[in-house]
Amino acid sequence: PEPSSYPRPGRFHPQVPTYDTSLNDAKLPDDFMWGVASSAYQVEGAAKDEGKGPSIWDLISHRQANAVADNSTGDVVASFYYLYKQDVARFANLGIPYLSPSFSWPRFFPFGNGPVNEEGVFHYDDLISTIVSAGITPIVTLFHWDTPLALFNSYGAWTDERIVDDFFNYATFVISRYDDYVPIWYTFNEPQYCNWQYEYYPAGNNKGYYPAYHNITGGLSARIACSYYTILAHAKVAKWYHEEFKGKGRITFKNSGNYFEPLDPTSEADIDSTKRNYAFVLGWFGGCVRQMPPWTNGDYDPLVKETLGSLLNNYTFSSEQKEMIKGSCDFYAIDGYTAYVATGVDGGSAACAVNSSNPNFPECAGSSSLGADDFPLGPAGDNNVSWLYSTPTAIRKFLNDITKTLFPSIKDIVVSEFGFAEPFEGDQASLSTILWDLRRADYYQAFLDNILAAKVYDGINVTGAFSWAAYDNFEWFVGSHVKFGLQYLNQTSLERVPKASMFQLLDWFKLHGGAS
Ligand code: NOJ
Repeated sequence: PEPSSYPRPGRFHPQVPTYDTSLNDAKLPDDFMWGVASSAYQVEGAAKDEGKGPSIWDLISHRQANAVADNSTGDVVASFYYLYKQDVARFANLGIPYLSPSFSWPRFFPFGNGPVNEEGVFHYDDLISTIVSAGITPIVTLFHWDTPLALFNSYGAWTDERIVDDFFNYATFVISRYDDYVPIWYTFNEPQYCNWQYEYYPAGNNKGYYPAYHNITGGLSARIACSYYTILAHAKVAKWYHEEFKGKGRITFKNSGNYFEPLDPTSEADIDSTKRNYAFVLGWFGGCVRQMPPWTNGDYDPLVKETLGSLLNNYTFSSEQKEMIKGSCDFYAIDGYTAYVATGVDGGSAACAVNSSNPNFPECAGSSSLGADDFPLGPAGDNNVSWLYSTPTAIRKFLNDITKTLFPSIKDIVVSEFGFAEPFEGDQASLSTILWDLRRADYYQAFLDNILAAKVYDGINVTGAFSWAAYDNFEWFVGSHVKFGLQYLNQTSLERVPKASMFQLLDWFKLHGGAS
């Protein structure tokens, strides 16, 4: 039965009332995957060490004051490149069964293509063997936005067809080397972020990889090209993988996505806007999922085609390409963070920002939601930090939308990232405030409860959930002052210290099972 009020209240901020005990006994299957996710540029540091070539993000973070809000860079961050043994040992001791890091393309191929960097290869050899020997299963993302700078400089990277073969060359090298140990490969992290609205590098050239995902006017032509080549690069690698390693592992995109619902559920315009938001964020890349009619297998969402019209002329897929694309996602993966309410043409705003007493999101009320005021150093030149609002109850509705309405042929879905950001600048907060992160702890409980509810009450085959992030790291344009970590990262000593939320996560899985 559907409990009348769900999820359980936060222990510390009980604005979501009534403790529901009916899910206390609910258990996840033993093969439910859970763990922590990260990306190379956001945690590794060692940006110029041991033969690594620069990526576009090395340039962005150094090129111009304020490109990153607090002028932080990925030069050091958590130094995961050097401290992985300690990190992995700790994850193993804590009982975390899965790690989901990304590999750095320019660490393997400093120039994007051409000679391989042996030191980079040895590094990842040892990282994988350290993880596996610790009894942890690695799930690897091949591309998490760190495009080799050399490729950008030589032909513009994602707006040129040469990127497809260069990515294929990198991906096949890596997969062939580690396929015995890595059961799941994500080709691209959040392909939705195929262009950016910022003009830091080089001024005026929007060639990806960074966002303007619900603003289809910013850098639109670059976004169209970038998306096209990204889909083709993914599909080419997936086809090769499926032929080469039949049934041995799985491959897919790791999608960016936020839950959308109409601001006014009776308004046609708002309903239409919800559909468009979903089409442009998820449907654009949805052709890789085996579709049921009326969708055309292997193609863009019909609404995307209809809206973009002739702009897609040079970027349509041949029937051969569609064949390659369809079924190239073995399952669906979604990074689920925020809830939006949709209104107007392609518009959307964070649900909690629009109405903090929205009955659809009880968690908006009170302190478990963050607002713009909490993030005085928002993205440079842009105070809109609405994507940082945390709305843990939305994930259940989102999982329902994806598997029942958007892609009904999906057999299983993984929440490849979820997390909660808090802003601490410099030494503004005391260590005890940082470690006693009750809002994040509540969020973790509520979010995981909602995943469990989607599974138990809605029958959705959600098969994994990955926290972002094991420790505070480099949050792209907003920099290092936006903290997602389950562990505090001391940026001077590089020490990691578990926060309350880490224990909340571990407790939750102790109670509800999952892989161990
Ligand atoms: C998703 C992205 O994959 C990751 O790089 C980012 O840090 C988190 N969201 C949080 O914004």
